[in-house]
Amino acid sequence: MRILLTGSAGMVGRAVAGHCAALGDGVFAHDRHGLDITNPDEVAAVFDRERPEAVINCAAWTDVDACESAPSGTQAIHAGAVETLARHSRRHNAAFVTISTDYVFDGEKEGFYTQRDDPNPRGVYAVSKLDGERLARDAYARSIVVRTGWIFGRGGRNFLSRVVDLALSGQPIKAIHDAYGTPTYAPHLAGRLRELVERDLPGIYHVTNGGAGTTFEEFARAALAIAGCSDAQIESVSIDSLRRPAPRPRNSRLRCLLSEPAGLAPLPDWRTALTEFIAECRMRSGE
Ligand SMILES: NC(=O)c1ccc[n+]([C@@H]2O[C@H](COP(=O)([O-])OP(=O)(O)OC[C@H]3O[C@@H](n4cnc5c(N)ncnc54)[C@H](OP(=O)(O)O)[C@@H]3O)[C@@H](O)[C@H]2O)c1
Repeated sequence: MRILLTGSAGMVGRAVAGHCAALGDGVFAHDRHGLDITNPDEVAAVFDRERPEAVINCAAWTDVDACESAPSGTQAIHAGAVETLARHSRRHNAAFVTISTDYVFDGEKEGFYTQRDDPNPRGVYAVSKLDGERLARDAYARSIVVRTGWIFGRGGRNFLSRVVDLALSGQPIKAIHDAYGTPTYAPHLAGRLRELVERDLPGIYHVTNGGAGTTFEEFARAALAIAGCSDAQIESVSIDSLRRPAPRPRNSRLRCLLSEPAGLAPLPDWRTALTEFIAECRMRSGE
């Protein structure tokens, strides 16, 4: 399949590029310098040159605290540019998948969020991502929106991806004990994104690893135990104590109503995925 990939230098973008190349796809992978998705002329030119059969949009501005003070730039990337990509996908009759977020929910619900729950995004990043979902689906009925969250993987700059490195370098670890989510290993998400464009079944999907979900603290303790860093000290903190600019949902655990009926196998439990990630890190560092 000829696949146009945006945000290819990011955590998910890299995983998608590797996965699709391994399947033998022709992957036109663009990092931000190769294709700025907020530039409509660049986007049009890339589509015309590459004539993709499928488009996987992994580009985003994931520094949610910085987004809080730059609403128009945030909207441009997560809403306006997503609409542009959807329009061009339509023009080229290409399958189109774009990634949204668990932050479209306010976190007030107990238990898992499904597609039956009304989004209620809080914060600039979250609002822009929901706008992107809607604009994509309005511009191109064939759009596939993937909501996911708590992603970890190689190249990740977030806490979940870096906790073992923090411990190994002796840095202090603060882990939140009162926010709940469903972790998602980037290579597993990449595989699912590829399956979804292949199946070409439009809709909103919730994609995460399996299991009951967890807290940042429980995830960190599990990661350190698997990595053999059980001596590392973790300071348990509450989500409110961090006083970050952007609001975050206290609970954003996701479950999908559509994947099983569509014949998509559940992704492995998050602990299995975490074990895989730590083994991958060890292999790459030559341990
Ligand atoms: N990480 C999570 O836990 C999480 C949770 C829920 C949803 N998501 C969503 O998952 C998707 C992938 O996230 P990720 O974790 O892989 O993020 P990431 O590592 O930050 O990757 C995003 C990539 O997009 C690039 N980018 C930024 N602005 C761009 C633009 N205007 N044009 C083209 N590329 C641009 C970034 O480049 P620079 O680094 O140079 O800015 C970066 O390489 C995003 O849609 C994100 O919103 C992530």
